[in-house]
Amino acid sequence: MQVKTANSLRGFVDDEHIRHLDPLDFDIRLPSLWEANAAGDVRALLAILNDILPSLETTKAMSLPESVATIRDLGIVMGSVKRHGVEPVVAIPELEAPLRAIGERTGMIPRDTIHHYIRWNPTGRRERMYTGEPMEKLLMASVRISLPRLSAAVDVCTALHTAEAGDLDFALAANELAALVGAMEDSIDTVIADVTPEFFARTIRPYFEDIRIGEDTFLGPAAAHVPLALVDLLLWASDHSDSEYLKFVHESAIYGLEHWRPLYQEWGNAPSLAARVIGALERGPKGEVPLAMHASVEALCRTLRSLMVFRGKHLTVARKAYADEVRLYELGSGGGSIGLLTNITSLVKGMWHMLRGPAPRNTRSAT
Ligand code: HEM
Repeated sequence: MQVKTANSLRGFVDDEHIRHLDPLDFDIRLPSLWEANAAGDVRALLAILNDILPSLETTKAMSLPESVATIRDLGIVMGSVKRHGVEPVVAIPELEAPLRAIGERTGMIPRDTIHHYIRWNPTGRRERMYTGEPMEKLLMASVRISLPRLSAAVDVCTALHTAEAGDLDFALAANELAALVGAMEDSIDTVIADVTPEFFARTIRPYFEDIRIGEDTFLGPAAAHVPLALVDLLLWASDHSDSEYLKFVHESAIYGLEHWRPLYQEWGNAPSLAARVIGALERGPKGEVPLAMHASVEALCRTLRSLMVFRGKHLTVARKAYADEVRLYELGSGGGSIGLLTNITSLVKGMWHMLRGPAPRNTRSAT
């Protein structure tokens, strides 16, 4: 892929190039960051933040990939400072102008997101982590499985949105969607195998706290901000969700990429893919389902099934990490509650049953 030199990230950035960059000479400071976090040494953390903070002029002269890498690295230190109880931009007001300039340049919020923490973060020795602990690396690895695939799923949804339900192209894209969304199952299986609820709740969750920038407050790099909400919106949620989940979906829009933002409005106001295929089946001839329609319904069912399995397992993990005796916070790092997760899990289950219902399983014609 080409590095786009336009004024914002429109999806055409070279992720590998960004991962390679170290514009603030932060590589060598990682061990001191982990040491300061382990010791709860806020003065040392603020000293690191002061040392790496670029001036506004330097920030403005940066290339787009350098801007992304800069906010990634500032973000890890800001999250660390906040974890120990200090608002980074209150402690160092000079942070605000460079953060805002990079936010404008990239078309993203003026702090780091899950895309910075995962997608644009190198692996191996240079991996930016809050703790340096193997379990943090494994938690990150679990999101590394699904984030790129869900981002690709958004592109596939764009194709599905304009394809005719019942066309072979729709069926092919729906199959691709099922494969990409299936990664959520692998993500949660990895977490269940490798990350304890206690480590999540007590060690890592505090680093994802929100931070204040001027009058605004921005959430940290939460896994809740992988673009699953956007995929859901087109797949089923635009017309089969409730106001609680839709509110969460729309509030998560600012944590994604700029070119995804209009899709929240567009897809939110359009019939979902599930509703479109159910409508097409109802309008079609009774008893015999054309092959492409059969394939489309089957692939959307498989996608919903993956989401149901992901959410069932995810809810179990989240309940353990947010149990009274374990949790440090009432709400998740994405601003939602266990109640919200319970609700989404039952909505997606209902949707799977609904879509499975009208599709005659054994009758398909060759056309
Ligand atoms: C121990 C690990 C985890 C715990 C305790 C946990 C907990 C939570 C909680 C409490 C929420 C509620 C909303 C919020 O964050 O404010 C949430 C949402 C969410 N989390 Fe996790 N999570 C974990 C791992 C993951 C992983 C590995 C993924 C994979 C990408 C993930 C994806 C999501 C998504 C997409 C949401 C939005 C709600 C939904 O779509 O169901 N989480 N999580």
